[in-house]
Amino acid sequence: MSTCDVLVMDSGSGGLSIWQALTATMPALETVYLADFNHYPYGEQTEAALIDRLRHLVGRCVEMWQPKIVVIACNTASTVVLDALRAQFPLPFVGVVPAIKVAAAASRQHRIGLLATPGTIKRSYIDRLVEQFAAHCTVVRVGSSELVHMAERRIRNWGGESVQQQDDAEQLTAIIEPFREAACDQVVLGCTHFPLLRAEFEKALPEAAWVDSTAAICRRVNALWAEVATGEAGLGGQERRAHHVLLYTEPKPAAGADRQRIAVVDEQWRAAMRRMGFDSIERFK
Ligand code: DGL
Repeated sequence: MSTCDVLVMDSGSGGLSIWQALTATMPALETVYLADFNHYPYGEQTEAALIDRLRHLVGRCVEMWQPKIVVIACNTASTVVLDALRAQFPLPFVGVVPAIKVAAAASRQHRIGLLATPGTIKRSYIDRLVEQFAAHCTVVRVGSSELVHMAERRIRNWGGESVQQQDDAEQLTAIIEPFREAACDQVVLGCTHFPLLRAEFEKALPEAAWVDSTAAICRRVNALWAEVATGEAGLGGQERRAHHVLLYTEPKPAAGADRQRIAVVDEQWRAAMRRMGFDSIERFK
């Protein structure tokens, strides 16, 4: 395969929460997923660095794979890079942004939480969303890279035996404590890594509803695909078996305690990705 229907990208494995839902609802889509481990975690990058990086990566992927739709499956990037990408590439871009509107409309107590990366919670884009849709609510913002690392560790075991992760459960409970203290009844999972830990969040704080944007993104891609695929005979047909390519940029080397803070590409990770449904796994240079 040298072209693809949809390109999905993130700093790492978080966007796989979107990719999985997308390929489950549109099984004939040919996809390329790009995990930018080299610049992971995005939540600790400056806005300018993210714009440069995404322009570069999207440019290279568009050249190589000619996607019909690009999904920026990352809240941290989408809340800052979409305008620049749309201005540069004549392609439909779908971004993922925190579902603050949905949570604010559903909150009975008018107390909502936003759980995202340290970068996302500071964005002016979020201030505008809150002003527009949640002005009647108390909004508690928690930014955490630790939860992103936890999700990366979890994905390495995808489809394999589940292992007891007591330390992670305690850390996760402590991180989301501000939502309990503020009695939030809706919490937005504003990072695509976090739906991968949804069961843990629900267990730690069952009194809140945990909201994410995954289903809305799938509906958006579906609608766009109906427009884009018109006139391209055969594309999107249900009869063909789709092919899925996973690309990754080389993780940065790290030593000591920092090893917890990097993504590791090894046989365990590759096996998990094959179980998830990828046909080929390639390093993107
Ligand atoms: N998964 C990403 C998001 O939705 C970014 C996580 C990170 O690299 O910090 O925000």
